[in-house]
Amino acid sequence: MNKPRETFGSRTGMLLAMAGSAIGLGNIWRFPYMMGKNGGAAFILIYIIMLVVLCLPVMVSEYLIGRRGGSNPFSSFDRLAPGSKWRWIGFLAVLASACILSFYCVVGGWSVKYLADSCILAFSDSQGDYALSFGTFISNPWKPLLYTLIFLGLTGAIIVFGVRKGIERMSKVMITMLFVIIVMVVIRSLTLPGAMEGVKYMFVPDFSKVTAGTVVSAMGQAFFSLSIGCGCILTYASYVKKEENILASSAWISFFDTLFAIIAGLAIIPAVYAIAYMNGLEPDVSAGPGLVFITLPGVFSQMPLGSAAAILFFLALLLAAVTSAISLMEVVVAFIIEEMHRSRKKAVLLCFAVCGVVGVFCSLSFGPLSDFKLFSLSVFDFFDYITSNIMLPVGGMLLAVFAGWRLKRANYLDELTNGGKVRIPRWLALTIYYLVKLVAPVGISLIFLNCLFS
Ligand code: PHE
Repeated sequence: MNKPRETFGSRTGMLLAMAGSAIGLGNIWRFPYMMGKNGGAAFILIYIIMLVVLCLPVMVSEYLIGRRGGSNPFSSFDRLAPGSKWRWIGFLAVLASACILSFYCVVGGWSVKYLADSCILAFSDSQGDYALSFGTFISNPWKPLLYTLIFLGLTGAIIVFGVRKGIERMSKVMITMLFVIIVMVVIRSLTLPGAMEGVKYMFVPDFSKVTAGTVVSAMGQAFFSLSIGCGCILTYASYVKKEENILASSAWISFFDTLFAIIAGLAIIPAVYAIAYMNGLEPDVSAGPGLVFITLPGVFSQMPLGSAAAILFFLALLLAAVTSAISLMEVVVAFIIEEMHRSRKKAVLLCFAVCGVVGVFCSLSFGPLSDFKLFSLSVFDFFDYITSNIMLPVGGMLLAVFAGWRLKRANYLDELTNGGKVRIPRWLALTIYYLVKLVAPVGISLIFLNCLFS
């Protein structure tokens, strides 16, 4: 009765889908303001160290578990360690994905709204709502909810078509468009007078802003940006054929993701500098989450060809957000299909309903529910904080512990090299294995402890 499980149709499709998961709001919306707060290039440097030493090995392991397990996170763990408690790590991953999707769709909704408004502004005399401040928009009790649900609906509409026709096909189109568009915005940004100061800011490190908190933030950002620790890579990997090279794929995805974060920084930060100097102001790139939605529209409105740049930029933001949101939704949907035996359509509806309700609360926390706090954080900040700074690193750590201590070394190396068919130097394979077994669990715990005590 069971249909055979779908797989990705091609290597390019698989890589672009995974890159699509990784490249998202984390790169465009989060990375530049994190960098702004944490010393520019100093942050990039720490980020890259975290990426290579902790995240890449965890990503390889997540990929490996998914491909070997060949199922959603819950049953992949169960197949590799039958009947054990390890499968609850898989369940935690599904939960983490649902939590991330719930606040992610709010920001995704903002990008729908800003795209719509920048089109209205460019093609008609009306200012639309664009003239409204960001604060007025997000605190409105209704409008942001509508956009949140539109975004979630868009995500669901892609997932319904399944792995090849939905996820793979759309990721290919959207990621290609995304790269072309963002390069156009970078060219516009870099050719503004004064833009080079922004570039200097990005690439000259300021270590005075680095604290223990910076290291935790860099780690959280790296996990978030690579989509690891919550089953997205695992679930996509379960649709991958056995002949793919796990290490090479993971390295490519990490490389593209980091490259894209830096390109997105180049689209934003130099423009902010240029316009600030034009107005005789000090540039402020540590404006926090509002950087993209408050500072940038102001920047666009003051630069030549700004309305075209605004449309392109918010389109890029939306494309990036959708390709990531589909990977989050697919984790939950695969779980519902395989563990609760529902059709894909019903699974999408269920996920839409649950994340939609939580998303509404996240969205309302900027307006009517702003006084409601969970551990002194607003609902939105709470979900953002516990997922990126706690659930993803802990999920990643448990994944590493599982891969390093529960899977046998021979099995790990066998899967990594596709049974010896992929030629990876032995020292490299062993280095990865021991990074996973020892360095990742210890490193992640130490960073946590350090943060707790400082
Ligand atoms: N990596 C995505 C981004 O950078 C967010 C994400 C996190 C997606 C975790 C899936 C899983 O925006």
